[in-house]
Amino acid sequence: MKEWYDKIQAAESVETLEEIRIAVFGKKGVLSAEFAKMKSAPNEEKAGIAKELNTHKSKLMALLNDQKNSLQTLVLERAMKEEGIDVTLYASHSERGSLHPVMETMDRIVEYFVSMNFSVHTGPMVEDDFHNFEALNLPKYHPARDMQDTFYFSDEMLLRTHTSPVQIRTMLHTQPPIRMIAPGAVFRRDYDLTHTPMFHQVEGLLVDKEGEVSFANLKYILEDFLKYMFGDVNIRFRPSFFPFTEPSAEVDISCIFCEGKGCRVCSKTGWLEVLGCGIVDPNVFEAVKYKDVSGYAFGLGVERFAMLIHHIGDLRSLFEGDVRLLEQFR
Ligand code: DAH
Repeated sequence: MKEWYDKIQAAESVETLEEIRIAVFGKKGVLSAEFAKMKSAPNEEKAGIAKELNTHKSKLMALLNDQKNSLQTLVLERAMKEEGIDVTLYASHSERGSLHPVMETMDRIVEYFVSMNFSVHTGPMVEDDFHNFEALNLPKYHPARDMQDTFYFSDEMLLRTHTSPVQIRTMLHTQPPIRMIAPGAVFRRDYDLTHTPMFHQVEGLLVDKEGEVSFANLKYILEDFLKYMFGDVNIRFRPSFFPFTEPSAEVDISCIFCEGKGCRVCSKTGWLEVLGCGIVDPNVFEAVKYKDVSGYAFGLGVERFAMLIHHIGDLRSLFEGDVRLLEQFR
């Protein structure tokens, strides 16, 4: 009888199992034959032989059924794989993704300026000293270089510290007039509540004939832009310094948290600084060999805008990729 156990286990198809079943349990099968043989055995042995045969009978039957079940499951699995979709199976929920708040804010900023006929330009994140500093009126050893803690690869190569070099690249390969913005990632050696080593800026530049571009033009478009982004806020221009613009200004909006009354976010001043801007310094035009032109430029940090719009307290949470934060921006 032993051999039949092996045969059942080795069977690779339901058909083979059926053949085995007939060979073992059928009318002319081995079990019948063994029971028939028993009849001619001595009487005192009959009970023992019958017991043994019955044990084989039930064990073989159980094994046969097990084997049949697993072969059937295998056949089904193979069929499901090959034949495709079983629409009766429960569907698992797939999560819907969404734009990161920084990208969403960047898209809104870009949308505004595109609607004002600015074209979108990009530049490399690995920059050289000339585009990131030198051409922007920041010669070597200029103290203003300390305003930006730079990641250097070598004396000449670095990770861009702002999107301003895209101004230079654009002016070097196009002729005025220019109306451009440059959105993108920038890098600085900084990490605390309000600084991360990578963040995003949008740079803007407008160049036209000498005398055609004034601070009033700059003021108008930035005021219109800030109202588009923040609604009905008060806006003020504060004199400031940037090497690439002269005169330069920083722009504040009235605090959107306390409406200018003074709170923790605005350090009790009632104002929030949101961008830098100015009239392009003649040295910048000289570096790109532009003559008889005038222009304005501005630059802003996208994370700062996103934090203000969405009331996010810690800048770092925008970079940690915690889905619990991101889920709130579906
Ligand atoms: N590049 C400046 C920064 O990273 C931002 C900026 C200020 C850009 C004034 C400008 C500008 O074009 O006119 O802080």
